[in-house]
Amino acid sequence: MGCPVYVIGGWVRDIHLGRDSKDIDIVVVGSGVELAGRVAEKLGKKEKLKVFKNFGTAMLRWNEWEVEFVGARKESYRYESRKPIVEDASLEEDMKRRDFTINAMAISLNPENFGELIDPFSGLEDLKNKIIRTPLDPDETYSDDPLRMMRAIRFASQLDFKIDCGSFEAIKRNAYRIGIVSMERIMDEFNKILLAPVPGKGLKMLRASGLLKEFFPELDQLHGVEVVDGKAHKDNFFHTLQVLDNLAERTDDLWLRWAALLHDIAKPATKKFNPDVGWTFHGHEFLGKKMVPRIFRRLKLPMNEKMKYVQKLVLLHLRPIVLSTNVVTDSAVRRLLFEAGDDIDDLMLLCEADITSGNPEKVKRYLENFELVRKKLREIEEKDHLRNWQPPVTGDDIMQAFNLKPSKEVGLIKAAIREAILDGEIPNQREEAYRLMLDEGKKLGLTPVDSKN
Ligand code: CTP
Repeated sequence: MGCPVYVIGGWVRDIHLGRDSKDIDIVVVGSGVELAGRVAEKLGKKEKLKVFKNFGTAMLRWNEWEVEFVGARKESYRYESRKPIVEDASLEEDMKRRDFTINAMAISLNPENFGELIDPFSGLEDLKNKIIRTPLDPDETYSDDPLRMMRAIRFASQLDFKIDCGSFEAIKRNAYRIGIVSMERIMDEFNKILLAPVPGKGLKMLRASGLLKEFFPELDQLHGVEVVDGKAHKDNFFHTLQVLDNLAERTDDLWLRWAALLHDIAKPATKKFNPDVGWTFHGHEFLGKKMVPRIFRRLKLPMNEKMKYVQKLVLLHLRPIVLSTNVVTDSAVRRLLFEAGDDIDDLMLLCEADITSGNPEKVKRYLENFELVRKKLREIEEKDHLRNWQPPVTGDDIMQAFNLKPSKEVGLIKAAIREAILDGEIPNQREEAYRLMLDEGKKLGLTPVDSKN
């Protein structure tokens, strides 16, 4: 073919960062698809080649490697359109149309200068100085593809880099254009920011740049402090970030991090000032639970058990705190175990992360009480096995015992048994539960089929 070929982009950046990457982008000054076909043929891996004709790219999977071939080109988005215009270009043109200087470095694969680094925008220098900078005027780079504004903050969070001042100002100017990017792509970047070692840093940048309010106004609205009669409430945005950062030290679970992000999401909507007690946010956990599906749907996040898990943690996030400030009764601990089920450990992690008081005495007291709650949880779980509780007497048992059809009575008896177990009046065992069932049935005027029971 005789066309110049280079490795470019993320792989070149990552080897200089000492990060292992299995994704290689190859750029050809000519046809990427044709070169990909020839390489696949040489390796005897034609069946592993996927050609994307519309995009003029091809992907070859080879062992654990994913190699993408593309012709040198420039891509840009028209003002209001989500569809890019793609044109052939020289290598220089291709490189300057990329997002950041650290991603616009190439390594030659050509015989005359094999292995030579081509770095026209001093990407290596920026890697060393930990700077995110665009090759062109940032207004142009971000306008070519507004998703790059999210990527700038994502790379800065993942790598602990700073965004160049001029670039950050350009993000502020162009933030409103994020609206032309699909929510799925925005969320891919947002989730990477959430999974960064200190997610709070990226979220602060998202807010300060004006991007956050464009796609996630509920989170943006947590920001701010109101003062009445000299009494201020805390800034719930910064509190949320603190909780998230505390939690991030202990878990990489994306959905647990989402629960931290949303735990106080309904505070602005439930905020009231009461002259006697100051600011209150009564019921924010209930309203928060209701807001989760709406937010997930709009952000195109999965509407499945992950969403339900986040809802559950948002709903229950105050319970261990309430428990730990009162006398820890067995019955309250049993109820918490019953409602949280297998998610109890995650809930405890979230609640511990939620202690952000600046008063070390208070923090110590809370954490000690939490230890007590954890101890009680272990004791009660050992005794009563309430995680993922299954009723020791089922609805079928009740219907058989009294020869009933599905009816209100069955529900009443089931509820009475559950309440008695949770209150500790009877143990979580079949024999005692069966006896209680018979008593409750009799109270409702029912007669057991088998009087021996
Ligand atoms: N790129 C770009 N603009 C984008 C996306 C990508 O200019 N909006 C360019 C960059 O040169 C980037 C390369 O395409 O390095 C490959 O993109 P991608 O695979 O999405 O990202 P990586 O840089 O490889 O990083 P990561 O794997 O962490 O996403």
